[in-house]
Amino acid sequence: MRTLIPYMKKYRIFAILSPVLMILEVMADIIIPYLMSRIVDIGIVNRDIEYIVRIGLIMVGAALFGMLFGIISAHCGARAGFGFASEIRQKLFKKVQDFSFANLDKFTVSSLITRLTNDCDTIGRVTMMSLRMAIRAPFMALFALIMALRINASLAKVFMVAIPVTVIAITIVLIKARPLFLELQTRIDRVNAIIQENLMGIRVVKSFNRQKHEEDKFKNRNDSLRDTALQAISLIIFLMPVLNLIVYSTIMAVLWFGGQQVVVGTMGGGELISFITYITQVLMALMMISFFFMQLLRGSASVNRVVEVLNTESEIKEIDNPVREIRDGSISFNDVCFRYPGSDERTLKDIDLHIETGEVIGIIGSTGSSKSTLVQLIPRLYDATEGTVTVSGIDVKKYDIKALRNQVAFVLQKNTLFSGTIRSNMKWGNEDATDEEIIKALKQAQAWEFVSKYDDGLDHRVEQGGDNFSGGQKQRLTIARALLKSPKIMILDDSTSAVDMATDAKIQQVFKEELGHITTIIIAQRIASIQYADRIIVMHEGRIESMGDHETLKNTSPIYREIYESQQKGVVA
Ligand SMILES: Nc1ncnc2c1ncn2[C@@H]1O[C@H](COP(=O)(O)OP(=O)(O)O)[C@@H](O)[C@H]1O
Ligand SMILES: [Mg+2]
Repeated sequence: MRTLIPYMKKYRIFAILSPVLMILEVMADIIIPYLMSRIVDIGIVNRDIEYIVRIGLIMVGAALFGMLFGIISAHCGARAGFGFASEIRQKLFKKVQDFSFANLDKFTVSSLITRLTNDCDTIGRVTMMSLRMAIRAPFMALFALIMALRINASLAKVFMVAIPVTVIAITIVLIKARPLFLELQTRIDRVNAIIQENLMGIRVVKSFNRQKHEEDKFKNRNDSLRDTALQAISLIIFLMPVLNLIVYSTIMAVLWFGGQQVVVGTMGGGELISFITYITQVLMALMMISFFFMQLLRGSASVNRVVEVLNTESEIKEIDNPVREIRDGSISFNDVCFRYPGSDERTLKDIDLHIETGEVIGIIGSTGSSKSTLVQLIPRLYDATEGTVTVSGIDVKKYDIKALRNQVAFVLQKNTLFSGTIRSNMKWGNEDATDEEIIKALKQAQAWEFVSKYDDGLDHRVEQGGDNFSGGQKQRLTIARALLKSPKIMILDDSTSAVDMATDAKIQQVFKEELGHITTIIIAQRIASIQYADRIIVMHEGRIESMGDHETLKNTSPIYREIYESQQKGVVA
């Protein structure tokens, strides 16, 4: 909780006002039964209409004041609670933006979404209620108790039984409810995880006809969420009648002992009525406290989950005084090994490699041979576990990360476009890009041929994820977006797999001739996509199996020859 308190700063005035005004509301609540007893015992007994009206008016005034302060207090509480939640959400969002890929692997996207939505909401709601109830309940209990003692100290002895019984009942329920509430949060998380995974992949689920299977999986988790929620709720349902029983028994006791005093004349009838009201208020306040603890329990689970994210440092750390200028596009891997966090095996082993500025490098190898892992080390999406990766002769860890990533454009294997227009997506690469620059990049990526056919051209809509484009169109748009960064190094991770051969060849030609100054690394499945590269690297089980140009590799690398021959057959057949 201490981690979160600074986020209340902007709203602290409301966080202070809410409980303060609440005390005024409580005062009104407390004074009203007292006034009522005066009306009964003095006004009615003496048949003094004027007195009744006067005190009655004061009573109405107190009620109105109480209501006014109550409304303002509730309003302040809501502002503080929701404001607090929104500050935390903003900070979480920023934090997640800075996360490294390793951090994202650890938390998983669906759990981050739950934390940003559900958990922040819970924190806001609990804060709002706490500000009101945490003050209201104890003050109410205290004041009501004092008033009851003032009215009739001997009768107040009933509290000595009622309060401990109530506290014990509530404590038992709270102790039993605690694990259930924590469990509830985990179950909500699991249901959310499946919803997210499923909706993101809904097209795949449908095309594989896995709806039934996914539905069953969902049903299991959903049912277990329901059962836990029911268990938790039934504890509370059980608490309510028990507390009611305690309240009514206490009232009975008060009526019994108090009634005798009224008969004897040592206590007024009005006093007895207000005494009963006070005793009800005290027990109500205790219920409120128990409810508050219950909320706090739910809130604390959310707080932990949010703080866990806020306290996570990005795995990728920047040094002090980082280098901001990247002079050229040369790259070196020196004895590099890499292990994914949480995995025991090395994914990359003994990589030694030097790439000159402006070279076009092709990388080929079976899936899982660590091609993607290799290139991810260049813009520091992950850091090498052993050895160093350098760009223009300087260790990548010494660069300012923004500067490095600006100069290393990476078209990811699982790339995506964002909802908006083609222009807005291209501006991701360079915010200040003019239409001419955008069109030039689209032409280089061979995307202009289809974009120019749209009536609205660059203003053509892009749906979420770029779902309104074909795979090949999307790939060409993401290449254009990367080109707009005018990088020194360009990495294409299987970025032309869905593009037809002829267009693919044109893209290669552009990189070789028009963009010859850019160091280009092309990962591909098809030999045709990298055939004209200056050098081709063959990856096999996390190692560089061999390296050379197309003609050399055909003769020296058995793996390359095998891939080549299998693809030749495909072409002939
Ligand atoms: N985020 C990750 N966490 C753990 N292991 C991973 C992760 N990404 C890839 N791997 C593993 O690393 C190996 C190499 O993967 P990758 O570099 O994607 O291969 P390629 O791109 O050649 O198909 C695979 O065995 C894969 O399971
Ligand atoms: Mg890959």
